[in-house]
Amino acid sequence: MYDSNPTLDGLTKKIDEDRQGEAFFQGMEEAGQRHFYIESYGCQMNFSDSEIVASILAEQGYSATRNMEAADLILINTCSIREKAEDTVRKRLRIFDQVKQQRPGTLVGVLGCMAERLKAKFLEEERLVDLVVGPDAYRDLPALIATAEDGDKGINVFLSREETYADISPMRLDSNGVSAFISIMRGCDNMCSFCVVPFTRGRERSRNAFSILAEATDLFERGYREVTLLGQNVDSYKWENPETGQTVSFAQLLDMVARVHPDLRIRFSTSHPKDITDEVLFTMKAHENVCKYIHLPVQSGNSRVLELMNRTYDREWYINKVNRIYEIMPDCAISSDIIAGFCTETEEEHQDTLSMIEFARYSMSYMFFYSERPGTLAARKYEDDIPLKTKKRRLQEIIKAQTAVSLAHNQQDIGKTFKVLIEGDSKRSDQEFKGRNSQNKMMVFPKQEGLKTGDYCYVKALEATSATLKGEIVPPPGL
Ligand code: 5AD
Ligand code: SF4
Repeated sequence: MYDSNPTLDGLTKKIDEDRQGEAFFQGMEEAGQRHFYIESYGCQMNFSDSEIVASILAEQGYSATRNMEAADLILINTCSIREKAEDTVRKRLRIFDQVKQQRPGTLVGVLGCMAERLKAKFLEEERLVDLVVGPDAYRDLPALIATAEDGDKGINVFLSREETYADISPMRLDSNGVSAFISIMRGCDNMCSFCVVPFTRGRERSRNAFSILAEATDLFERGYREVTLLGQNVDSYKWENPETGQTVSFAQLLDMVARVHPDLRIRFSTSHPKDITDEVLFTMKAHENVCKYIHLPVQSGNSRVLELMNRTYDREWYINKVNRIYEIMPDCAISSDIIAGFCTETEEEHQDTLSMIEFARYSMSYMFFYSERPGTLAARKYEDDIPLKTKKRRLQEIIKAQTAVSLAHNQQDIGKTFKVLIEGDSKRSDQEFKGRNSQNKMMVFPKQEGLKTGDYCYVKALEATSATLKGEIVPPPGL
């Protein structure tokens, strides 16, 4: 049997790629039922979209399987953000091909950003693929499957200005029953010059605030204790109520969701430094259950490079934003995305990125070397002139600087007590729980009688590595 995660080898060390290639398990295959198997790559948004796809397929009588050899339909939700992500998908298609040869009639579908980027070209390049479905066309899946079953290729890569899948209740895949994603907006209007997302995910649009609230409430009632509001740029969330004409901003949405229940934690991702407002920061501060953690990608610490990247802020502006966050919420953790070796970046400019890591005191970062993507502004305007060797060396320097800062950040927490939401057993032992604190740091601690996954407890940090805090359960403060 080809199990779910052969692609995980060598990827697991990268923090953001923990879940790459994850397939999920629903139960045993039931005879007579049609089954789908789905793997997801890329960002959290893709994982969230796979849950929408699963829900659409469940409506059609499909049930989920983790065993791709038992599937009538094999789907891969793809990422185009870097070349490597696309290479991984192509490798997985070779595996699907083998399954298809053993089980003729099995349909293979490519979903998401790579489907959108390559469109019909995919069908020429990868003859085994039966379905090519872009991120805004998932409602069309049943019709496309019917087309493919008739022996034609099913393709829909239309991007929409309205689709938010607001009315679809996602089927939670491989969930711990505690944390869930809620997609609040789709697309991106930012046009960072390195990024393919505006081309693969289309224009920005915000989802009905009341449907978001209903989803959060439903999750809480089903026992979930943490929701992450997702969007490529959550701070530009803006929904106009068609009945009243009133608009809901991201700060207002955050406030609404925070009021669902004090025991429901709220996280959000991703924030663009140019869009995060004081109002958002004060709303975070006002609610204990809004986690004190902001993912605020800097991309580069140098103003000239930021300009070339079309990030619309410079180093000074970013520094002011970081200062403002720490001023309003001294206990807030900030994390980042960083790109090494963007077009024309000099050694001095790279040094500015290293110093930014120190300045911003990121709790952690997702770090990449620049990968030119066809069709982007940078691919059209600038030469990808930094040799791969240099890019990789700069990336190593960035990782080294970040690891030291992460370790120092965690060491400062030793002796402090945090409220932790228990997410399950730790990776190493069923005698230990793992769970995150408000600052999104993973804490590992010995279990205590009477506590279970989904409960909150207080944990005192005793030891730190650059990735985790080890600790012990203590009585709630004041007791
Ligand atoms: N090359 C390298 N990294 C990229 N990212 C986006 N596009 C590219 C690219 N072409 C990174 C950015 C972004 C994160 C999701 O991926 O840091 O914030
Ligand atoms: Fe997500 Fe971006 Fe990858 Fe698309 S290209 S799946 S939006 S990370």
